[in-house]
Amino acid sequence: MAGSSSGPRGRWWRSPATRALAGVATVAATAAVLVTAPGADAAASTLGAAAAQSGRYFGTAIAAGRLNDSAYTTIAAREFNMVTPENEMKPDATEPNQNQFNFSAGDQVYNWAVSHGSRVRGHTLAWHGQQPGWMQNMSGSSLRNAMINHIQKVMAHYQGKLAYWDVVNEAYNEDGSRRQSNLQGTGNDWIEVAFKTARAADPSVKLCYNDYNIDNWSYAKTQGVYRMVQDFKSRGVPIDCVGLQAHFTGGSSVPGNFQQTISSFAALGVDVALTEVDVTNANTSQYSALTQACMNVARCVGITVWGVRDSDSWRSSESPLLFDGGGNKKAAYNSVLNALNAGGTTTTPTTTPTGPTTTPTGPTTTPTTTPTTPGGGSCTATLSAGQSWGDRYNLNVAVSGAGSWTVTMNVPSPERISSTWNINATWPSSQVLIATPNGSGNNWGVTIMSNGNWNWPSVSCSSS
Ligand code: XIL
Repeated sequence: MAGSSSGPRGRWWRSPATRALAGVATVAATAAVLVTAPGADAAASTLGAAAAQSGRYFGTAIAAGRLNDSAYTTIAAREFNMVTPENEMKPDATEPNQNQFNFSAGDQVYNWAVSHGSRVRGHTLAWHGQQPGWMQNMSGSSLRNAMINHIQKVMAHYQGKLAYWDVVNEAYNEDGSRRQSNLQGTGNDWIEVAFKTARAADPSVKLCYNDYNIDNWSYAKTQGVYRMVQDFKSRGVPIDCVGLQAHFTGGSSVPGNFQQTISSFAALGVDVALTEVDVTNANTSQYSALTQACMNVARCVGITVWGVRDSDSWRSSESPLLFDGGGNKKAAYNSVLNALNAGGTTTTPTTTPTGPTTTPTGPTTTPTTTPTTPGGGSCTATLSAGQSWGDRYNLNVAVSGAGSWTVTMNVPSPERISSTWNINATWPSSQVLIATPNGSGNNWGVTIMSNGNWNWPSVSCSSS
């Protein structure tokens, strides 16, 4: 068992999320700078695994129409552990005729994602863009009611299944005022009505406001959105997260104060995510700077790039993604991976967080050592607790007794494995993981969404 005594990898216990929770529990209104030293352990070799080391995710937009392209799905399954349907959960896709819903493309992306161990961000419920024709022509109270009905029905379909929902998208002008739209025309309270409707429809999912050009802290639009979130938090309007689309294409670039923007939103007591990242010509220093900025803020929960390969991008002429059209990793890929592996310097919020204060319930069963599978050679997989959050927990797995092994993990329903690191993983089902070495050694791990059940999975090990 010598091989299993190394214990949890140091970086996890010192992760930003742990520090943030400790901060919420024990200190309030204190400014502090905490340094997370890079671990001495092996670097993770995929974006999702590297992000999972600090409890974050790394995601991509997925288009249903590309799921039969195996070069595309191979990269997507390997690298990412969060998926945003690029167009399939937008209003024109989900409600093509009033009160007639169509979830086929959204479900296709959802099912692909969870069967590959990924979580899903819903995008988006209330937006001036990509409205079905019938909605574009509506106004006043009939539009308000149609918006409420849309949110209720779409969220009911995905109830309990999604990690985040972009409830409202792009509701602000560049000057920090509200964007004029048919939704805005129904009354200035349309955004808070959307969020209240969303909370009632599915209390399990985090509710986000999402927008572009809110990256520069001193920009009027950023300030406008900030004031809205601040107002919502102060009045108890339900909002859990802010998505910075972070399209550094079409003429914009990462501002010098990007981290300040992220930490300022986080200090309001919301999660922050970079939700649609792309960068003109995949500039390596901008990609590493934006990744570093997220890593440095405890409540920056993850990064999503807006597509897999350059050829999949909505702005493909700017070659803004991490893989070229041939599926090769670009230089920017390495700069992002390195920044994720390096960890971050975490600044705790300088104001008292007003967000959720409940203590996460950790795993409830004791660590188990599972004996060798009969028939296979000798090896042992030992589980130990990693970090846990309100909705999920990490488990470390140490394999001893063999260098070449296969571990089968069965997760009790309705728990789901959402990400893994340091293994090659295959998924006979979303509750079963088969792990083999990927050259990173015998210590690996998983993140498991609890969905209300905190019992640990069973594991069996067989050597080959
Ligand atoms: C884009 C998609 O990538 C395109 O395929 C589609 O034609 C238009 O929408 N902000 C958003 C995303 O919130 O939904 C947009 O996605 C890009 C800008």
